Amino acid sequence: MKLVRIAAMTMIVLGLVFPAAFAAGNAAKGKALFDDPKAFGGDKACSACHPDGKGLEQAGGKKEFHIMGKTQKSIEEAVNFCIENASKGKAIDPNSAQMKDLVAYIKSLGKMKGKTGGY
Ligand code: HEC
Repeated sequence: MKLVRIAAMTMIVLGLVFPAAFAAGNAAKGKALFDDPKAFGGDKACSACHPDGKGLEQAGGKKEFHIMGKTQKSIEEAVNFCIENASKGKAIDPNSAQMKDLVAYIKSLGKMKGKTGGY
């Protein structure tokens, strides 16, 4: 029965640690990617065109995007569109930790509005 208890303990510990680490993206890590010109193998950081995320405050709540004359049906698609067409990098897996971090950062922009006095 010892084994059962160890297994139960392990599941509890994993259950506590994993959601915090992986389920939701990490906005701080997302910002680091956003500011890194080489993050996706391209030559421009997201922040080169969206300084401090400016202009993306509404993106977290949108269902459809229009970038450079094309339509994107999700924020992940919009991010990958910009990675490929604006930053000239390689699209990333929409379910990857990197994508979750980027999306968490973009979503945090809307929430910051009015609170920081920045914009
Ligand atoms: C060369 C300039 C450029 C770069 C670099 C760039 N973007 Fe964009 N991005 C645009 C333009 C232009 C639009 C469409 C107009 C707008 O919504 O501001 C856009 C739109 C977006 C949107 C949709 C905004 C909305 O509310 O509809 C998101 C999300 C986005 N970009 C994310 C990113 C991310 C993440 C990166 C880095 C991987 C990035 N962009 C890099 C130019 C760029």
